[in-house]
Amino acid sequence: MSDDDKRSYHRQRTDAPSPPAGCPLHATWSPLNADYLTEPYAIAAALRDEHGVFYAECLGYLVVTRMEDIERIFTDHETFASVNVQDPVFPLTPEAQAILSAEDFNPVAVMSNRSEPDHGRIRVYTRAGFSNKRIKTLDPYIRRRSHELIDAMLEAGPPVEFVNAFAFPLPGETVFRFIGFPEGDDETLKQWCGDRKAFSWGKPTPTEQAEIAEQMLAYWRYCRDFTASKREDRGDDFTSELIDAYEANPGSMSYREVESVVYGLSFAGHEAVTALICNTLLCLLPRRDVWAEVCSDPSLTPNAIEEVLRYNSSQISWRRVTTQDTEIGGYDVPVGTSIFMNFASANRQGDIWTDPDDFDIHRPNANRHISFGKGVHYCLGAKFAKFETQLVIDALAERVPSLRLVDDQKLNYFPNITFRGPTELQVTWD
Ligand code: HEM
Repeated sequence: MSDDDKRSYHRQRTDAPSPPAGCPLHATWSPLNADYLTEPYAIAAALRDEHGVFYAECLGYLVVTRMEDIERIFTDHETFASVNVQDPVFPLTPEAQAILSAEDFNPVAVMSNRSEPDHGRIRVYTRAGFSNKRIKTLDPYIRRRSHELIDAMLEAGPPVEFVNAFAFPLPGETVFRFIGFPEGDDETLKQWCGDRKAFSWGKPTPTEQAEIAEQMLAYWRYCRDFTASKREDRGDDFTSELIDAYEANPGSMSYREVESVVYGLSFAGHEAVTALICNTLLCLLPRRDVWAEVCSDPSLTPNAIEEVLRYNSSQISWRRVTTQDTEIGGYDVPVGTSIFMNFASANRQGDIWTDPDDFDIHRPNANRHISFGKGVHYCLGAKFAKFETQLVIDALAERVPSLRLVDDQKLNYFPNITFRGPTELQVTWD
């Protein structure tokens, strides 16, 4: 077995060490609690103010709530490894494990879950693909699809369920065209991405685990077949560029790593952007004066999006695991401790932002948030996500300035520990 084969996706969690000595324990809090899923911010702030660091017994994770500790963890990648970020939070059933032990289920960790120096070696290959120049080439596609989806919304007439009508289809299609996947496969790919979110960040039942494990196997096989087809027939897409780079210098990257980048990227940045678009509407539309400002001056949109990423982010946590004994918040933390970094508390810290619970699109330091991480793994798609969301908001502001939320709707959130956006959002207009 090569080194690559040892580092795979969706691994079963190994036994965790005991909580750090003297560290406060929390017996009932979990990011999957119904009250937290619905409205995490007040609960996160209370936990932060009570204990900056505590051990969540329901999760088996050490929860770190303050920005200074989270930034230290992100920037010290030697002590705090990212190898666990794609793994299921809760134990897998033997049946799900058996399905994933199929001989050809062998994606290797390449980006978010790969350690240095390999991570840096592979990330170099993705730089050109995510350059400002390359992202700008998506502008016509995103604009055209945004207008087509708005046309369809207007034709259907109000009210419309916006996630299904707009926010769900667009980001998936954009990333899939960027990667080069054929349009006919969009629905299947979106289904797989939803399954993957439930598998690694949610708490599926044993039956669901087995079903999803089968789907992950199919998803990986698809990515391998797709990469092979691109190798035969290049196009104007990221995968073709990656294969070109690999073939120009095959000693620096393995072919399995190329396939695995496709598996990794096709999930990253799909639903997080769906949620960012919805969360932006949730922040802007009820504040009619703020929405009117954005409609009349599109130059305000970029900072408004930064403020949404701070105030109501589509990603409110991320994980790490300690590679050696260390210290956090004054506690001795043993090697092998799973860490849950809580962005929902850090992004509302009063010593960083004035009136942190106010939504203010003019905040000078709105972009100081931690929603894209920090350090060597800083989100590769941050510019991509913001650019896409900006085009969407500008298109809606131009075409449907009277857009507003339907009153008194109850929002639901998919049960998982990290990603946050409404599953449905009813909008209307005049
Ligand atoms: C609002 C949308 C998004 C949010 C909130 C988000 C957030 C994050 C976060 C928190 C990380 C981990 C950073 C760290 O460990 O320091 C990350 C990594 C990553 N993101 Fe995003 N992301 C978004 C959109 C995207 C998009 C659109 C793409 C690609 C099309 C993308 C691709 C990636 C990749 C490849 C990594 C791993 C980078 C590495 O390890 O070098 N993300 N993202």
